[in-house]
Order: sequence, then structure tokens, then C-alpha cells
Amino acid sequence: MAEYDETVVSEHDGIKELDNQLPRWWVILFQLSMVFAVVYMLWFHVLGFGQGQEGKYADNKSRAEAAQAARQSDLLASMDLGSPSTLGEVLSEGSDIYQANCASCHHSTARGLIGPNLTDAYWLNGSEFADTMHIIAKGKLEKGMQAWESSLSLRQRHAVASYLYSIRGSNPPEPVRAPEGDLIEGSDSPTYNL
Ligand code: HEC
Repeated sequence: MAEYDETVVSEHDGIKELDNQLPRWWVILFQLSMVFAVVYMLWFHVLGFGQGQEGKYADNKSRAEAAQAARQSDLLASMDLGSPSTLGEVLSEGSDIYQANCASCHHSTARGLIGPNLTDAYWLNGSEFADTMHIIAKGKLEKGMQAWESSLSLRQRHAVASYLYSIRGSNPPEPVRAPEGDLIEGSDSPTYNL
């Protein structure tokens, strides 16, 4: 079969429509693209063997989330929760937690309101960092101090306790709540027993 067939199919206003065959390579490509479309549709949309954009996105997302969780638990493991942190980001998180949850009873400057002054050297429940961590977790319900272990994570309690440590001895302006508890020398310093 000649590639160009001069047979005139129709002619209008001097424009001829010829009966040309499409080139074989073109027809084969066209047919292959139809086969491809059918296979593609079955593979991705009917049988579900292939992973589409959404599946890939979900996969990558869960991988990234797992990596982030691993990084966080590494960070937590590398952080010594038994002593106060002096890292700026931990203290600023602690400050935010304090203002949101604790300022209503201890005042925004921690000078004391319903609860005791947390910046002085007098302590009802001990002056060590572990004591602060303990009372924050367990509270003292009969005296009106809430237990925070169910609403603040260990990391958050560590952050707020570190913040409190950092503002020890900050001498907030009057009126400061009268001292309560035992005087423990030096415990109004952010470097106490570090
Ligand atoms: C509803 C009021 C209230 C809230 C809210 C509150 N506290 Fe207290 N807190 C108290 C009271 C009252 C005490 C005194 C308990 C006692 O008599 O032993 C106290 C005691 C403490 C103590 C021990 C002080 C000492 O002298 O031994 C620390 C530390 C403390 N709170 C930290 C916090 C932190 C941190 C938060 C926020 C996460 C918080 N509190 C929220 C009322 C509150």
C-alpha cells in the first residue's frame, strides 16, 4: 500500500481531501497508548495494585511522622528530666504553660495569690527540683493544688518546673504573698543545688 494515496475523497472549493493512510508507526503508537490506558486504569484504579498520589502522600507522611516521633523520643531521652533545663526554648515553653495553667493561682509573676509565692526561699513541699516535679505531677488536692500529670505530659511538667526554677529569687513586685512553709537557705536561687 502506497504511503500517499492520491485518491480524492472529496473536493470543495479547490481543497482536496485525499485518502492517505496514517503512517504505520503512528497507528502502532496510538494502539499502544490505548493498551497502556486500559492497563493503567486497571492497575491503579480497579485492582489497586499501583500506588496513586494519595497513597504515596499518606506513606511519606506516616514515615515523616514516625521519624519525628523518634527524634522527639531521642530528645526526651537525651534530656535529663531529673534536673532543671536552662535551654531557652524549654524555658519559654515552660513560661507559656505557667501563664496558661498556673498564673490564676500563683500570679503571673509567681509572687503568690491563692497558692504560695514560688520565687522565695520558703517551701511547703520541699525546695529540690524533684520536689517541684513531684508536687506538679501529684498536686495537693486538699490544699487546692491540682495534680497535673493527666493534663500535662512529663516533658511539659519538666518545662514548667524548669521555668519556675529559673525565676527563683526574681523578687516580684509587691504585694507578695506572705512566706509559707520552711525557710531553706539558698533555695531562692536559680542555681540552687544544680
Ligand atoms: C487552683 C489553684 C492552683 C493552681 C491552678 C496551681 N496551683 Fe500550685 N499550688 C496551689 C496551692 C494552694 C499550693 C499550696 C499547697 C500546699 O499547701 O502544700 C500550691 C503549691 C504549689 C507548689 C509548691 C509550693 C511550695 O511551697 O511547696 C508548686 C511548685 C506549684 N504549686 C506549682 C504549680 C504549677 C507549676 C502550676 C501549674 C501547672 C500550679 N501550681 C497550678 C494552688 C494552685
